[in-house]
This record gives sequence, C-alpha cells and structure tokens, in this order.
Amino acid sequence: MLECLVVILQSFWLMLPAYVSNSSAVLVGGGKPVDLGRTFFDNKRIFGDGKTWLGLIGGIIIGMGVGSAQIVSLNIAKIYNYYNNFIPEFDTNTSFVVILFCLCFGAMFGDLLKSFVKRRLGIERGKKLMILDQLDFVLGAWLFLIIFSNDWFFRYFKLPHIIFILLVTPLFHRVVNMIGYKLGKKKVPW
Ligand code: CTP
Ligand code: MG
Repeated sequence: MLECLVVILQSFWLMLPAYVSNSSAVLVGGGKPVDLGRTFFDNKRIFGDGKTWLGLIGGIIIGMGVGSAQIVSLNIAKIYNYYNNFIPEFDTNTSFVVILFCLCFGAMFGDLLKSFVKRRLGIERGKKLMILDQLDFVLGAWLFLIIFSNDWFFRYFKLPHIIFILLVTPLFHRVVNMIGYKLGKKKVPW
C-alpha cells in the first residue's frame, strides 16, 4: 500500500516538468504558428494553427523553470535533513539541464510530431486522435530521456511508474484541456 503511494508520488515528481510544459503551452500559446502557415507536399498544413511559437518556447521555459524549482527545493530539503532516498533527483551523472531539457523539449517535440502525423492523416486541428493526443508528450519526453540520459531514466522509471503514468496521464490531460477550454484558450474541451 505504502509502496503504491511512493510510486504515485515519484511518478508525479518525475513527470512534473513535462506536465507543466504541456499544460502551460495551452495557457500561453497563441500568435504565430510554428509552421508559419505553410503546407507540406500533400498541400495540408505542416503542423496547423494549434502549434504556435509562443506555446512551444513558453512551454519549454515554464516547464524547465518548475523543474529548477524542484531541484532547489530538494537542495533545501537536504540542508535541513528532510531529504530521503525515495525522492528522485534530477542531477545524477547527467547534468540537470540535460534532464530538464529532455523532459520539456521532448514533451513539446512529441506534441508537435503528433500534430504532424494528424495533418498527414487528414485530421484537422483540434479533431481527436485517441491515445496519441493524450500520450504524445509523455512519449516525446521518454524518447529524449532514453537517448540523452539513459541511465537517469532507467534509474527512476521502473515498470510500475511507467504503467501508472501511461494510465493516469490521459485523465490529467483531459482536466487541463477542460480548464483551457473554460478559459477560452482551446476551441474544444479535449
Ligand atoms: N499550443 C500552442 N503551441 C504549442 C502547443 C500547444 O499554442 N506548441 C496551444 C494551442 O492553443 C492548442 C492548445 O495548446 O490549441 C492545445 O494543444 P493540442 O491539443 O495539442 O492542439 P490542438 O489544438 O488540439 O491541435 P492538434 O489537432 O494539432 O493536436
Ligand atoms: Mg488536441
């Protein structure tokens, strides 16, 4: 029971920078689209109007900012002896900048790639593509972590964490998009 709780808390802690990147993009996004309105060979938009420079850059900066705050609070906890080994650290072997960048850039990259795939499949901006819509940013973050900080990824992401994250992220994603919709930032609530 206690082990389950530890896995849940660790999973949120590990994924927080990526979650924040993905959800802040909804809040700060707008303006110039990443593809600047251009189309691909199939005459459909490269990414579409849902992917903007503001969302991309803003999401990465805010996510990395929150990750940095996590590292600072860990260091403060260490000074006051509140730290214990259950709390994953972001700066073992690989530099924390690399890890945070992988989590946040990877998340935004996954989201962008998903939109690219949707456009190629002829799915319009905002129309649903089950599973990929909800897990794009998780898979993007994991891909970059596996490539650039393999040992950090496998040190902390054990099978229970991976399963928990894959199951709970769609729920979390839904809640964030509902908020974005209510705030008028998203045209559809998913
Ligand atoms: N957003 C943004 N820039 C990004 C990513 C997201 O501005 N790089 C904002 C957009 O306002 C977007 C919203 O976040 O509408 C939600 O993202 P998402 O659901 O991924 O986009 P959709 O509008 O559904 O478009 P798509 O069909 O391409 O997924
Ligand atoms: Mg969407």
